[in-house]
Amino acid sequence: MIVGGKIKLREKRLADAPDDYVWQTDPKLAQLDAAPLPTITFPQYLSDYASELRYPSPTRHRFAIETLDGKHIGNCTYYGIAETNGEAELGIMIGNRDYWDKSYGADAVTTLVNHIFRQTKLNRIYLKTLDSNTRAQKCFQKCGFTPYGFLNRDGYDFVLMELHRKQWLQQT
Ligand SMILES: CC(C)(COP(=O)(O)OP(=O)(O)OC[C@H]1O[C@@H](n2cnc3c(N)ncnc32)[C@H](O)[C@@H]1OP(=O)(O)O)[C@@H](O)C(=O)NCCC(=O)NCCS
Repeated sequence: MIVGGKIKLREKRLADAPDDYVWQTDPKLAQLDAAPLPTITFPQYLSDYASELRYPSPTRHRFAIETLDGKHIGNCTYYGIAETNGEAELGIMIGNRDYWDKSYGADAVTTLVNHIFRQTKLNRIYLKTLDSNTRAQKCFQKCGFTPYGFLNRDGYDFVLMELHRKQWLQQT
């Protein structure tokens, strides 16, 4: 368990699957994430979910985001972990909209970034977010990320953002 100011991050568990399924099949959330809408049924989803928990990828760490009183409100992850390059990509989703624009996202990102730079040797964390997703960009900027480029992929325009360990050290 990693405790931040407003949230805590914990390992994913099977009991998260119903929330995650609802969030992943929400068209608005999928649109904000430039993700395709999954078409699988919940039983299929649950079976894939269980095997991912049993055989976690060594290049990805996933966390549930909970409020301090234990309500599951979203997920965050770092993935594409490249130890030789010293970098990884960060992803976050606050699935429960009641918790948007209240700094839960910024606290989750800051807590995860602190964890990564304190517990691993990674030197750079990067991410991409839709150019149109100004809420997400503002959230990442509050956490010290800066834009470094643009990407067009599959017809979507993304802003690329990054945070280096050196910058993080200066900010903490
Ligand atoms: C993106 C996300 C993680 C941000 O978390 P959050 O808790 O809502 O964000 P925060 O409250 O920490 O910060 C958002 C900031 O953007 C501001 N904001 C909200 N809508 C905005 C808009 N349309 N334009 C500009 N700023 C906006 C908020 O006021 C807040 O700034 P403030 O703290 O200075 O008031 C969360 O909203 C989320 O998961 N959304 C759905 C999925 C998604 O967008 N995923 C993409 C991730 S790449």
